[in-house]
Amino acid sequence: MDTTHPSPTAAGSGASATQAFLARQEGGAGEVSRERVATVVQAVLDGVHEAIRTHEVTYREFTAAKQWLIEVGESGEWPLLLDVFVEHEVEEVAARKQHGTKGSILGPYYLPGAPKLPSVTTLPMREDEPGTRFVFAGQVRDTTGRPVPGAELDIWHADHAGYYSGFAPHIPEGNLRGVVVADGQGRFEISTVQPAPYQIPTDGPTGKLIEAAGWHPWRPAHLHLIVRAPGCRPITTQLYFAGGDWLDSDVAQATKPELVLDPQPVSDGCVRAEYDFVLEPA
Ligand code: DHB
Ligand code: FE
Repeated sequence: MDTTHPSPTAAGSGASATQAFLARQEGGAGEVSRERVATVVQAVLDGVHEAIRTHEVTYREFTAAKQWLIEVGESGEWPLLLDVFVEHEVEEVAARKQHGTKGSILGPYYLPGAPKLPSVTTLPMREDEPGTRFVFAGQVRDTTGRPVPGAELDIWHADHAGYYSGFAPHIPEGNLRGVVVADGQGRFEISTVQPAPYQIPTDGPTGKLIEAAGWHPWRPAHLHLIVRAPGCRPITTQLYFAGGDWLDSDVAQATKPELVLDPQPVSDGCVRAEYDFVLEPA
């Protein structure tokens, strides 16, 4: 693992993650009843009050927390912070009612509108893209086992050093992102490079908190995918790599045993993994 490469600054990735979130227009749940707001917000406040009482939080600590929350907002790190510490729980609750392939968190680095690519394809990458060549292949089926022709695999992942295009200034726009359209049998074969583990930017308030608490800032290496097809519920998920670092201690708690690939060496320094997706009716 390459830990010597400098992190993209939190200022860069944080602010871009906020922009990406706002551009996706996720800003609002629509009508929410008064009862629901009161119930959920009261429960959150009860938890905070309980922590203050149990741990006898002081005025100094309360003031430091206020200062830190101001910095989270000013640096645009709310998407990073919430996706790393909170989204996994929202996803778990959503998953209670879902069938087919397990989901995982979206995370802060999805960018819609990536180019459509054929079913056998290579993701857009630099001419000299570093990293282990990696072929990822499989089939999209429905819950009755029938192939889903023309399913879309919207895929994005970090590069060999853990950086995402669109959020790290040294990576070209659109690198390692694409919407792969499966063939008439729902099959796909995507050539790319193996991503590295991802480190939460250490220079922003989220990183400062992680350091102050003595936690580690790592997510295991992963692919992000949204798999969608007409008439089916789209699946937002991530796939991990067997034996990889941080698989058992993901800072974002977003791993699931069903979502682990086990790539095997094929030709000349290239690895290959297969994974089939199952979509349920919408
Ligand atoms: C974060 C980054 C990711 O790449 C991811 O998949 C989930 C969360 C984050 O920085 O919050
Ligand atoms: Fe990620």
